[in-house]
Amino acid sequence: MDEHKGRLRASDLEDSGDPGINPTHNLTMGEIIASRFNRRDLLRGSLAVAAISATVGTRALAANEQPTKRTGAASFDFKEIEAGVDQTHHVAEGYDAKVLLRWGDPLFPDAPEFDPASQTPERQARQFGYNTDFVGYIPIDGSSDHGLLVANHEYTNEELMFPGVGIQDAKDVNFSKMTKDLVDIEIAAHGGAVVEIRRVNGEWQVVKDSKYTRRITADTPMEITGPAAGHDRMKTSADNTGRKVRGMINNCAGGVTPWGTWLSCEENFNGYFWGALTDTHQEAKNYKRYGIGTPAYAWGKFHDRFDLAKEPNEANRFGWVVEIDPFDPNFVPKKRTALGRTKHEGAAGITNKDGRYVIYLGDDERFDYVYKFVTAGKVDPQNRAANFGLLDEGTLYVARYNADGKGTWLPMIHGQGPLTEANGFKSQADVLIETRRAADLLGATKMDRPEDIEANPQTNRIYVMLTNNTRRKDDQVDAANPRANNAFGHIVEMMPDGGDHAGTAFTWEVLVKCGDPSIASVGATFSSETTKNGWFGMPDNCAVDSQGRLWISTDGNNAKATGRADGLWALETEGEMRGTSKHFFRVPVGAEMCGPFFTPNDETLFLAVQHPGEAEEGAPASFDNPITRWPDFKNGMPPRPSLLVVTKKGGGKIA
Ligand code: FEO
Ligand code: CA
Ligand code: CA
Ligand code: CA
Repeated sequence: MDEHKGRLRASDLEDSGDPGINPTHNLTMGEIIASRFNRRDLLRGSLAVAAISATVGTRALAANEQPTKRTGAASFDFKEIEAGVDQTHHVAEGYDAKVLLRWGDPLFPDAPEFDPASQTPERQARQFGYNTDFVGYIPIDGSSDHGLLVANHEYTNEELMFPGVGIQDAKDVNFSKMTKDLVDIEIAAHGGAVVEIRRVNGEWQVVKDSKYTRRITADTPMEITGPAAGHDRMKTSADNTGRKVRGMINNCAGGVTPWGTWLSCEENFNGYFWGALTDTHQEAKNYKRYGIGTPAYAWGKFHDRFDLAKEPNEANRFGWVVEIDPFDPNFVPKKRTALGRTKHEGAAGITNKDGRYVIYLGDDERFDYVYKFVTAGKVDPQNRAANFGLLDEGTLYVARYNADGKGTWLPMIHGQGPLTEANGFKSQADVLIETRRAADLLGATKMDRPEDIEANPQTNRIYVMLTNNTRRKDDQVDAANPRANNAFGHIVEMMPDGGDHAGTAFTWEVLVKCGDPSIASVGATFSSETTKNGWFGMPDNCAVDSQGRLWISTDGNNAKATGRADGLWALETEGEMRGTSKHFFRVPVGAEMCGPFFTPNDETLFLAVQHPGEAEEGAPASFDNPITRWPDFKNGMPPRPSLLVVTKKGGGKIA
C-alpha cells in the first residue's frame, strides 16, 4: 500500500506534521559524505567499477563479480509489453494471465455468491477478502501443480466497496457514513486466506471443498509469542495475560518458510486506532514514533479496543510478523515478537550455510530502517514440527550503510550499547515493542521507505526495494540514499561477507536508481539496453525465481507520475546486461501490482492486482462511478481486487 493512496490518506498525516516520521537527527550519512561521487573517488578496489556502472548506467562488470552463468546475452526471454495506462491488464505475448480469485468469491461450499448490494460481515468472512498484497505458494508433496495459496488481505477501500458511501475519513467527513455493519464488513475483508489449488490439464482451479480452506480476519484469535509476550505493556482489559489478541491488520507482504509456514506482515497498523493519549502517558512517545493517532478507519467508533482512550495498550499488539501454519485450519496464528515491531513490509528469508534461518525485514516509512532476524536454532528439514519455535529465539539486527560501500548489522539486544534502562528499555520486550526508537539510538541508516527484500540463494546477494522519499532534502542525501526528493526510488544490492547471512559485515551498492532515464534531471541509472517501456519507478514487492532472476512489482506509477500503470518488470542483475529492465505485465488503471510469487518449477507466476480503480489524489472514483470495472466489466459490479495466475501458452518455464 502506498502512503499517498488508499487507506492511509497520508495527506492527512502530512498536514498533521507526519507523526510517523523519524524525528532523530544524529544518523543521516549526508553529514558524513556529501555525494555518491565522493564515494567513487574513495573506491579504488573491488567495488569501484560496479559503483560507476550503477551510477552511469553502463554495462561494465564489477571487478569482483563472481563468475556467472550468464554473461552477454539477456537472460530474460520474452517480448516486452508497451508501458501505458488503460482499464485492463496486459501480459507479454505468448502468456496467459487468468483471474483465479476475486474479492468476494465464495471460498467454502456453503459460502454465498458475491453480491455487492447485499454484502454482510458473515458473508465476507466466508469469501475472498480485499486487496491482496502478498501471495505465496506452498507445494503439497513438493508439487508445482498442487499446493496451498496463502494471500494477505491488506486493507479496504470503502469508496469502491460500498454503494453510496464515497471516501470516508476523519478530517473532511468524520466517517459519517460508516455504520457498524460496514465497519464489520471491513474487519472481515482484512486478514488473509488459505486456498488449495490444483492445475488440471494446464488450468489452475480452486479446490472448493478443501479441508485446508481458511479465512483469517481482523477478528481471528491469535497468540502473542516471543520476548514481548506477557509483558504488562501488552495487556488489555480483554486480555490480562498479554498473550492473546484478536486479528491481524494491514498485512502487506510476507514470506514462506522452508518448513511450510506463511509469514504475514502487519504494516500500517497505526491508521486503525482512534483517540489520543495525554502527552505524559507512558506510551505517548512510543505511539508518536509509529504515527498512531490519525485514524484512517472508523473501527474505533464501534469497537472499544481500537480507541486508545479506552484501551491504551492495544496498539502495542499490532505491528508484528505473524506466522501461520496453512496445513492446519485450526492453527492459532502466532505474532512473533522477536522479529520486532515496525510497519513491516515483508519477511522473506534464506537458510544460512550454518542452518540458521535469516529473515530480511523492511520498515516502510520515510527515513526508517532495514532489519534482519537470525534464529538461534537451525532449520530441521527432517522434522517440520521442530521448526515451529524457531522464530521465538534469535537476534534482531538493524542495518547501517557506510559511505565506503561497507555496512554493519547492529544487534538489538537489551543491555548492550544504548539499549538500557537509562533510555527506557528495561527488558528485551521494551526493545522489541519500541523497535524504531531502539534503532534510532543504535545509529541505523535512514532509508527511502524500505519495502520488500529478497535474498538470491544462487549468489547470496540481497535486494532491497526502496520505493521513494520525496521528503529527503539535499543535506540529507547519503551514499545509500543518493537522491534528494527521491520520487522514483532505487534498489540497493547487499553482499554478506563470506556469504554469511548470520554475520554482521556486508558490502553494498546501488543496483539501479529508478525513473525515466531519458530525463537527465531524474538521474535514473537503468542500463542503456533498457527501452522506453522497460524502466519503472517506485519498486515495491519483488521475487527471485528458481533461476536466481529478479522480478519487481511497483506501486505508484500512473499517468501523471510516470506515464505508465504499475506492473511487473524483470531486472537483470548479473553479467553485461546488469541493470537492464523489461516490462512483463501491467495492471488496470488505479491499481498497484502485488505478489509476485513463482511455483518451484517457474511455470506459474502468481500476481495480485490491488485496489483497481482507486482514484488518483483529487480525482473522484467510487462504487457508483468507477474508473474501471475490471475484471468483470459488468454494470453494477465494482472493480474487484484479484489474484491472477500467469502461465506460458503451451506450457514451460516463464521467460
Ligand atoms: Fe503495503 Fe509497503 O506497501
Ligand atoms: Ca507500497
Ligand atoms: Ca508492498
Ligand atoms: Ca517478495
